[in-house]
Amino acid sequence: MEDHAGVETAGGKPKSNRGTMTAIVEVKAVSKRFGAFHAVRDCSLSVEEGSITGLIGPNGAGKSTLFNIMAGAFPPTSGHILFKGQDVTELSAHELFSLGMLRTFQIAHEFSNLSVLENLMMVPDGQNGEDLISAWFQPSRVATEESAIMKKADEVIDFLKLKRVRNEPAGNLSGGQKKLLELGRTMMVDAKLVLLDEIAAGVNRTLLKDLAENIVRLNRELGYTFFVIEHDMDFITQLCHPVIVMASGTVMTQGHIDDIKADERVIEAYFGGSPSGHATTPDTAPGAPQ
Ligand SMILES: Nc1ncnc2c1ncn2[C@@H]1O[C@H](COP(=O)(O)OP(=O)(O)OP(=O)(O)O)[C@@H](O)[C@H]1O
Ligand SMILES: [Mg+2]
Repeated sequence: MEDHAGVETAGGKPKSNRGTMTAIVEVKAVSKRFGAFHAVRDCSLSVEEGSITGLIGPNGAGKSTLFNIMAGAFPPTSGHILFKGQDVTELSAHELFSLGMLRTFQIAHEFSNLSVLENLMMVPDGQNGEDLISAWFQPSRVATEESAIMKKADEVIDFLKLKRVRNEPAGNLSGGQKKLLELGRTMMVDAKLVLLDEIAAGVNRTLLKDLAENIVRLNRELGYTFFVIEHDMDFITQLCHPVIVMASGTVMTQGHIDDIKADERVIEAYFGGSPSGHATTPDTAPGAPQ
C-alpha cells in the first residue's frame, strides 16, 4: 500500500508498551435514542491512554453520535462515560473541556471573520480580558495574560506551519488549513484526549501528511490521546491502533487494522458484502467513503 500519510507511525504496532493498559475513557453500555430510533445501542468500549485509537464504520453507524455523547453535547439515553475513572456522563461540553477532553467537528467551526491568530486566542477559558471589571481595574494583568496567550498561539502556529496565514481571516483558509486550525485549537488548552471527527475529509494529500504528522507529534511529544473517526482507510492504517468498528449503533469488533480489513463480518456490515478472498478492502469497496 502507498505510504499515504508518509509519516513514521506505529503502522499497526501497538502504541503503548507500558505493559499495563490504562483506559483514559470508558464507554459503558451507552444507548442513545432519537424518538424511536436507536442511533447508539448498548455500546461499550475503552480508549487506552497514550494511544491513537481509530473508530470506523458505515455511514449512520452512530460514530458521531457517540462522540457527541462522550464530549458532553447531549446525554445518553442510558449508560455511562468514565474519564480517567471518573463518571462524567452528566458533565457539559464546557466542563469536559476543562478536564482536557476535547472534540473537533466533522465540519470545521472556525470564526471566519477572525484571523488565525485570533481564532486560537479565543480558545483558552477564563481570560480576564473578557471580564470588563478586570479590564478596567487590572489592565496590566489582562495585558500580561493576553501576551502569554498570544505567545502560545504563535507557538501553535509555528508547530502547525501556519505562519503564512497567521493574520488571514480564517474564512479565507482552505479546507485543509481549517482542519489544521481545528487541531491548533486543541493545543491552546491542556488537552488530554482529543476526539477527531473526520478531520481528514476533503483535505489534500500534502496537508493530510501535515495533519497526520502533527497528530503523531502531539501524541508522542505532548502525550495526547486521540480517538479518531475517519473514513480514509490509509489514514487510519497509518495512524491508528487499535481500530474499533461500529455498526448499527454498537461495537462490532476491534483490533489491528489488518485483521479488521480481513474480517468477513466487517466487510459484510461495512461494505455491503464482498465475496470471500476478493481484494476488496475498506478503501476500495464500492460506495466506501474516501
Ligand atoms: N439529532 C438527531 N435526530 C435524529 N436522528 C439522528 C440525530 N443525529 C443522528 N441521527 C441518526 O443517527 C444515526 C447515526 O448518525 P451518526 O451521525 O452518529 O452516524 P455516523 O456513524 O457518524 O455516520 P457518518 O459516517 O455518515 O458521519 C443516523 O441514522 C442519523 O440519521
Ligand atoms: Mg459522523
